[in-house]
Amino acid sequence: MPSLISLLFVLAVLGPVQAIRYLGRVNPATKELSWSATGVSFTFCGRSATIEFEALSGTNSAELIVDGKSTYIADVTGSSIATPANLTQGNHTIIFRKSSEALYGSIFLGNITTDGTFGPDLSLPGRRIEVIGDSITSGYGIGAALPCTNTAALEIISETYSVLTAEAVNADLSIISWSGIGLIRNYASDPVDTSPIMPERYTRYGANDPDNSYPFPTADTPDAIVINLGTNDFGHGNNLRPQLNGSDYTAAMVKFVQYLKASYKNNAAFFLLTSPMLNDGYPEGEMVKTTQRNALNEAVQQLNGTQAYVVDWPDQGSDVGCDYHPTPNTNEIGAKLLTDAIKGALRW
Ligand SMILES: *[C@@H]1O[C@H](CO)[C@@H](O)[C@H](O)[C@H]1NC(C)=O
Ligand SMILES: *[C@@H]1O[C@H](CO)[C@@H](O)[C@H](O)[C@H]1NC(C)=O
Ligand SMILES: *[C@@H]1O[C@H](CO)[C@@H](O)[C@H](O)[C@H]1NC(C)=O
Ligand SMILES: *[C@@H]1O[C@H](CO)[C@@H](O)[C@H](O)[C@H]1NC(C)=O
Ligand SMILES: *[C@@H]1O[C@H](CO)[C@@H](O)[C@H](O)[C@H]1NC(C)=O
Repeated sequence: MPSLISLLFVLAVLGPVQAIRYLGRVNPATKELSWSATGVSFTFCGRSATIEFEALSGTNSAELIVDGKSTYIADVTGSSIATPANLTQGNHTIIFRKSSEALYGSIFLGNITTDGTFGPDLSLPGRRIEVIGDSITSGYGIGAALPCTNTAALEIISETYSVLTAEAVNADLSIISWSGIGLIRNYASDPVDTSPIMPERYTRYGANDPDNSYPFPTADTPDAIVINLGTNDFGHGNNLRPQLNGSDYTAAMVKFVQYLKASYKNNAAFFLLTSPMLNDGYPEGEMVKTTQRNALNEAVQQLNGTQAYVVDWPDQGSDVGCDYHPTPNTNEIGAKLLTDAIKGALRW
């Protein structure tokens, strides 16, 4: 039987853990950064570090944050990214994070090297938030004004409400989002978009992994789960399809929340956002924003054994960005509301 002294010795050697930590939902078997804001975080003592790319697919934007100073990379190319040449010898904290959403491409990580030694993982906040959403959550076109065509480069995830909220409450963040996606049905289009809806796509580890590949690792278990879905469901594309029935939306939301709760096997708090892109004036007479708010309030009623809250993100009004998507300013408004809701509910 090991003595207390030898146990203490083992703990001293193993901790603090030298760690290269994944940010967001990353399948360690593929090291694929697919979802928005996935990445790696580590510290090192030395003069330089390099993050190699095993492969790149499609187009990707990303962010390299060195000792808190961020550099935006509008188009990730080449076989690696290195820290700036003028770093001084010493301790440095590095975050490399994908910015654009999964549908534009992926970054497959290779080895991470340093001329010095890797240090302890200093940035683990011990709080986790997961945000599930559509183009709003993906930062669609946030880097441009109307009119524009969205690109990977324009999806500046650091300006979105999710990242702002995670920073405000000092939490790790996982984003599962896809532009055009719905809870029941995707963006209204002709021909009909038959790609997976969120309850299906959500089950993938990397966004390009098979359905049901995500194993809900204990380390990923979120304290707070934010759901921002409905903007695409409520749209009907000028009567390309019937209006959404609020009761159907409520039922789908309740089912999805119950699925998440059962899968993570914990008691996360749920924050159900209304959409800043829905309003009561358009389409005329449909009162879509009110319908969504009422339907979410009804979902919270039905989820009475679960900690669930509606966070009402006001209609963005005339402050519209790329393809009528939320501007950085609208994201700041949403972040403030969500931050207050999370702080209030979880006493953070
Ligand atoms: C390194 O160079 C960049 C510009 O090339 C500058 O912004 C930065 O402050 C420099 N950093 C140090 C530690 O000198
Ligand atoms: C660098 O960090 C290590 C522990 O991570 C610490 O022991 C060391 O003193 C630090 N060095 C400097 C120069 O701050
Ligand atoms: C990555 O590191 C491993 C272990 O050190 C090594 O075997 C492998 O060749 C490296 N891969 C590349 C692409 O350098
Ligand atoms: C929505 O569906 C429910 C149940 O199927 C039905 O009772 C209700 O009338 C529908 N509401 C609308 C606005 O169509
Ligand atoms: C939730 O509400 C339903 C219907 O109002 C009720 O039957 C049920 O007991 C409630 N469950 C909890 C856990 O409060």
